[in-house]
Amino acid sequence: MLFGKKSVGLKTVDFDHLPQHIAIIMDGNGRWAKRRHIPRSGGHAAGAETFRNIATYAKEIGLRYLTVYAFSTENWKRPKDEVDAIMRLLHNYLEEALRDMEKNQIHMAFFGDLTPLDPELRALCEKVESTSRKYVQCNVHICLNYGGRDEIMHAARSFAADCTAGKKRPEELTEALFDSYLYTKGVPDPDLIIRPSGEQRLSNFLLWQAAYAEFYFTDVCWPDFKKEHLLNAIRAYQLRQRRFGGT
Ligand code: FPP
Repeated sequence: MLFGKKSVGLKTVDFDHLPQHIAIIMDGNGRWAKRRHIPRSGGHAAGAETFRNIATYAKEIGLRYLTVYAFSTENWKRPKDEVDAIMRLLHNYLEEALRDMEKNQIHMAFFGDLTPLDPELRALCEKVESTSRKYVQCNVHICLNYGGRDEIMHAARSFAADCTAGKKRPEELTEALFDSYLYTKGVPDPDLIIRPSGEQRLSNFLLWQAAYAEFYFTDVCWPDFKKEHLLNAIRAYQLRQRRFGGT
């Protein structure tokens, strides 16, 4: 864990006041691969490596929550070989995470509807989640078959079902109660959302939770995203004034 203010190049990051929760849209793998004349799956493989490094570094600096967008509800539209390659990378990563769990000490969990996944991958997700639950200091969430609208609809349906069953009444619904029906239940909203690759949109990511998030965009594609890019984003965040609708 890092403490105090540290200079990164000419810039200073205050490690005592890190954002509690950083969420990242891991974008630009395809363009990174295209520039190198390699298949898109090569870009995703490089992206998976970046994720490993950033998750390890997040733990090292004492970040409490890191969430990454790995596969959206819309990504099924991609060619089958690309979808298969991403699922394989996830599978390999999770096997590795199980093996290295004691060394890494990271709680890993998933946001999204895992039911359409291959049963073996789903079982692996469940095993990683349950066996890493004891590591509460650093929590890494992977959004998998995740969509913000899908999440909100799923929550609305579950609440409606509880009303029909007589367990809840419509008039008791508050933001806090609605939160408890989301995939992200119990996890604080992201303070900072980072999107690399030059794109500046949310793409159905954490729609409800992003209400007061700060945004950071960089032109660097995800496979080229390094510790210093994360620190640049944190530093930019630390220079912002968050008012949450107040003055
Ligand atoms: C977006 O870039 C990236 C994805 C849809 C997949 C992300 C998956 C990984 C990084 C690998 C597996 C993840 C883990 C956590 C091990 P894009 O393909 O849309 O890039 P482009 O916009 O340049 O085409």
